[in-house]
Amino acid sequence: MSRTPLPYSSKVLELFRNPKNLGKMEDATVYAVAGNPACGDMITFYLKINEETEVIEKATFESYGCAANIATSSLLTEIIKNKPIKEAWQVSWKKLTEELGGLPTIKFHCGILAVGALRRAIRLYYKRKGEKPEWLPEDLTFEEKQALEEEELAKVLAKRIGEKAKKEEKKNV
Ligand code: FES
Repeated sequence: MSRTPLPYSSKVLELFRNPKNLGKMEDATVYAVAGNPACGDMITFYLKINEETEVIEKATFESYGCAANIATSSLLTEIIKNKPIKEAWQVSWKKLTEELGGLPTIKFHCGILAVGALRRAIRLYYKRKGEKPEWLPEDLTFEEKQALEEEELAKVLAKRIGEKAKKEEKKNV
């Protein structure tokens, strides 16, 4: 059976093949994970923050997601490098998608997950400091909610698969 390749833009394919800032950051100030390892769509975002100036000096990521996720994360790390945390917070998945030359609709969630992981890391940074800047919203943003929803969904699926496997096991005894 042949599968039609997804209509990725040349920029997505280029960043997927040669991602920037890929890898674990040993000296990160903070990091956060979004997604679920059970379904493979998992991303970790690492930030090195200058605590005096509140500027992001370095950002890296690890991803077990697809080409869209890797390309979006790569672009996001480049955009937020040397930017104040507040500006990094304001980068939306729509802006990223536009800069990538668009994404197939079924791949929107992959870009959303990248932004969700970044925002989670930023929230965690301020939580640890016991501070809350006025620009940081109380409520979770769309991207953060979406990451949570995906995690919930993955848990439900993993549970169902586990139950099914147990039933099969019983049948075979
Ligand atoms: S990260 Fe899940 S399909 Fe792209």
